[in-house]
Amino acid sequence: MTKEELVQEAFQAMKNAYAPYSNYHVGACVLARDGRTFYGANIENASFGATNCAERSAVFSAYSNGCRKEDIEALAIVSDGERIAAPCGICRQVLSELLEQDTPIYLSNGKDETETCIRDLLPMQFGMEDVIR
Ligand code: THU
Repeated sequence: MTKEELVQEAFQAMKNAYAPYSNYHVGACVLARDGRTFYGANIENASFGATNCAERSAVFSAYSNGCRKEDIEALAIVSDGERIAAPCGICRQVLSELLEQDTPIYLSNGKDETETCIRDLLPMQFGMEDVIR
């Protein structure tokens, strides 16, 4: 699957966003090395802190179906905002543990597009090696 196709898959996932509070829609798609795809959308809640972001949903789905970081080829995250949706702080922390440092992360809002990776999105990481001594 090409990068453009993966981004389009994330736009399909965005249609499933449940965002009655923010009306801000985000979709994500994980591409596994074996060709499987895993989708996520932001799912909000009246107790706002219980909201789950699209990229966490997608990566949790990949893990829930047996993938681990080395099985993941790329992640696309798209939104309907004016600016491209760069992952929030909580998502960066989660992605820093669940993706390889250089796994491509494609960001798009249908207008602008960029490519990054978690090494660049989250410097000075707190991780497993800090906890397990
Ligand atoms: N959101 C995501 O799903 N991913 C991001 O990277 C940024 C924020 C969601 C959470 C919430 O449902 C809405 O966007 C507004 O914050």
